[in-house]
Amino acid sequence: MSTTTKEPYLLNVDEEASKRLNLQHGILTRMLGGILIPEPVITRLNQIQESGRSQSYDWPACKENTYVKIADLATGTGIWLYSIRKQLEESGLKAELYGYDLHDNQFPPEDKREDVEFHKLNILDTPKFQEIGPIYHYIHARLLTSVLTKEEWKVAIDNCLEILKPGGFLHFEEIPFGELSIEKDGVPASGGVLEKLQASMKLLKRDLDCGHNIYNYLEELELWETEHRKIDLRTCDEETRQMQNVNARLGLEEFINNAIARGPGALKRLGYESKEAALERMASLGKDPGTQAYFVLHSILGKKPGGVFSMQISCGCPPPPVESDLEEAREEPEEMYVPDPDPVYDQEGKEDTEEPPLNFVVPRRGRFQVSYAVISDKPDSK
Ligand SMILES: C[S@@+](CC[C@H](N)C(=O)[O-])C[C@H]1O[C@@H](n2cnc3c(N)ncnc32)[C@H](O)[C@@H]1O
Repeated sequence: MSTTTKEPYLLNVDEEASKRLNLQHGILTRMLGGILIPEPVITRLNQIQESGRSQSYDWPACKENTYVKIADLATGTGIWLYSIRKQLEESGLKAELYGYDLHDNQFPPEDKREDVEFHKLNILDTPKFQEIGPIYHYIHARLLTSVLTKEEWKVAIDNCLEILKPGGFLHFEEIPFGELSIEKDGVPASGGVLEKLQASMKLLKRDLDCGHNIYNYLEELELWETEHRKIDLRTCDEETRQMQNVNARLGLEEFINNAIARGPGALKRLGYESKEAALERMASLGKDPGTQAYFVLHSILGKKPGGVFSMQISCGCPPPPVESDLEEAREEPEEMYVPDPDPVYDQEGKEDTEEPPLNFVVPRRGRFQVSYAVISDKPDSK
């Protein structure tokens, strides 16, 4: 199903918005203790890379086999992709990185993209996703809560699965609007701005509880190794909380400014009778000392069922066989027992629903043209 969102994106995609997103990224990174890629994903990517290396055992390893492919959807400035490079390197992983977004305004300039590739893509454009096909080992998307309606979330998740390889991880990180708060001494203190914003999000059918709903949908889809982690800003250090105070004020100002720019109808939706009333409210935001903005970060993870273990002895062109090998290969093949393997990875075009065969017929000493594959629909750890 293909859908396009009827409402425009409610935040900006200009330089100021990029600064706010980068500040937001700094806050989230601190909340996650610098670990941007969850541990199960790192483990999986290592398995995939190892499997790729073993495919190239007597032949120079080709990039196609040894690099994992990672995509960040609705990437904005691509800051998440640039930041994960350190963790990938520390984990011994080599990766091709791809950033996708509806708008290209915030992509880095062409000559500053380093090793990251950027493309325009609407997360709701199902035919485009089908065209791309399942080529990624890990897909990440973050901060779409102001973008997608409850129904659109399902389309977006289905689309992500279209481009994810079986056995690959899907990872969402969201800050649900329903859990935002601005308080002083435990009492709401945004002067009603936040509440108006939440009400307008509801009117626009945004999902105020998207964290739980994404998780429930991944469960409904029967993804493997699903995980739902929540980190409350209340549990974080003072510096992180102060950063969020600045961020919240910038975000709210952006919403109000956008409403002013769109005219009286949009302003009314935020509950302001006039532009002057909105400007007055904006000027008072964050002025009251002791006021604190809070949110809860939701990290939701799931693995696409399937995944194929494939080991191709000799990758690319095999070296020419020597005559003694040929003679042995001409002999009766013997049945070899192959112990139950880790269903590591991954051969395109194979159905991942086949039962894994336990026995294989291979030439006795197959140094050349010997390949076998174990196809499994079982998770390797659950
Ligand atoms: C709040 S920003 C988050 C950016 C980035 N994920 C981050 O964490 O820094 C939301 C992003 O979603 C993008 N966006 C909005 N609607 C979209 C759509 N239909 N498809 C893809 N991206 C979209 C915007 O252009 C913007 O870059």
